[in-house]
Amino acid sequence: MSTTTQNPPAGSKLVVIGSGPGGYTAAFRAADLGLDVTLVERDPVLGGVCLNVGCIPSKALLHAAKVIDEAAAFAEHGIAFGKPKIDLDKLRGWKNEVVGKLVGGISALAKRRKVKVVHGTARFSGGHQLTIDGPDGESSLSFDQAIIAVGSRPTRLPFLPEDPRILDSTGALELSEVPRRLLVIGGGIIGLEMATVYEALGAKVTVVELLDRLIPEADRDLVRPLRRRLEKRYEAIYLGAKVTGVKAQKNQLVASLEGPDVPDSAPFDRVLVAVGRQPNGHSIAAEAAGVKVDERGFIAADRQGRTNVDHIYSIGDVAGGPMLAHKASHEAKVAAEVAAGLPSSFDARVIPAVAYTDPEIAWVGLTETQAKAQGIAYKKGNFPWSASGRALALGRGEGMTKLLFDPETHRLLGAGAVGPAAGDLISETALAIEMDCEAADIGLTIHPHPTLSETIAFAAEAFEGTLTDLYIPKRRS
Ligand code: NAI
Repeated sequence: MSTTTQNPPAGSKLVVIGSGPGGYTAAFRAADLGLDVTLVERDPVLGGVCLNVGCIPSKALLHAAKVIDEAAAFAEHGIAFGKPKIDLDKLRGWKNEVVGKLVGGISALAKRRKVKVVHGTARFSGGHQLTIDGPDGESSLSFDQAIIAVGSRPTRLPFLPEDPRILDSTGALELSEVPRRLLVIGGGIIGLEMATVYEALGAKVTVVELLDRLIPEADRDLVRPLRRRLEKRYEAIYLGAKVTGVKAQKNQLVASLEGPDVPDSAPFDRVLVAVGRQPNGHSIAAEAAGVKVDERGFIAADRQGRTNVDHIYSIGDVAGGPMLAHKASHEAKVAAEVAAGLPSSFDARVIPAVAYTDPEIAWVGLTETQAKAQGIAYKKGNFPWSASGRALALGRGEGMTKLLFDPETHRLLGAGAVGPAAGDLISETALAIEMDCEAADIGLTIHPHPTLSETIAFAAEAFEGTLTDLYIPKRRS
């Protein structure tokens, strides 16, 4: 793949296919750099999965879940609010309002930047041409350069019947009703975020996860506080287990289960399938432009975002790598800048990951699991939140912050946190890795007291041996 850059001719036409966080960011950055940009979106609204049926509505509902849980938890400390009265229509309306504001914002930003928005399903009909199947029929659109940002869709389990009571994340976010008993297939991020919402709203939740742990890509010690909390609240969590079939009966869905200590079958009112996502690369006839799509539907790109065809770029979920909005928007800026002739390249060292469960789990850079598997030397600084005044005041002493350092240089290699707002805390450590910070840089940075962010400095001090908020016996040399 080429890594050269050339200034595009004045008025060069760029088309961006897909308007999620990857697509709209690419379109806006390219417009700001003077390209003539058209943004094509198959849905009637902009924003893609993240804004409409992903990151944003789930965070609105997770906030509602948190309010319910925190209010209930305070009964133990002298303030009882009683059982919440849940008006599902109003809650759904509020969630839709949050989404609507953001989607409206994206449309307004497109207008301000003079980005042309075309609604319709795009497919390549040549190296410099798209055919768009829109509400008023087919049209064609020629371009000098194109950015493919068509995202991903939920993976389906082929053995499940077609039944409106079997949901994917999109269906679950519609919040049409709260089932009495919900089966969640897949103990990854989407499964557990949606389980958090439905459990708080009153559903009895069962989770079935194929591997022997929840959120398998996170370190076990970070997942432990979440698992303990969920074990108390959920009907069952079956690990190393699978669903082998679901029989749709009139009043219930009967799931056949397999695994250690798992019943052969169990009845549910709804089933949520959250077993991963598939890239949408096969949906755009990319071969008509000579663009390579792999068997699974990924369209690979180099560090400048270019596919095997120099003037066509691929970003976000469809390009491979972690399927995260913040990775897509970062790639989007690179591709837009390269399309505008700038010498940009994707050189972020790390991409943080966050599960917005309760407690939240966040990690960035090297994980302990990876370090052990790859024989990478590291030393750890740990700070248990049971020693954080702020965490205790929040009633959440189960949290933890840990930092992994290079034993020779003391540079930060990776970080993880579990606890409320862990997803916000992780940014500081991502910056520290990008800036090559050593343990002392983090420990000697004055963090405000009392905050959860202090736990990052304390973990660095634990590594340095300068921590006073805990007593750590000196290691014998
Ligand atoms: P995932 O890959 O994170 O988790 C799916 C889980 O299902 C895995 O633990 C897997 O072992 C399990 N699984 C697979 N097949 C199974 C089966 N037949 N039975 C039982 N368990 C099975 O996928 P998820 O949660 O659907 O998310 C999809 C993508 O979206 C991920 O890349 C995720 O990172 C991203 N995402 C990120 C969010 C965030 O940043 N907060 C939120 C939601 C999604």
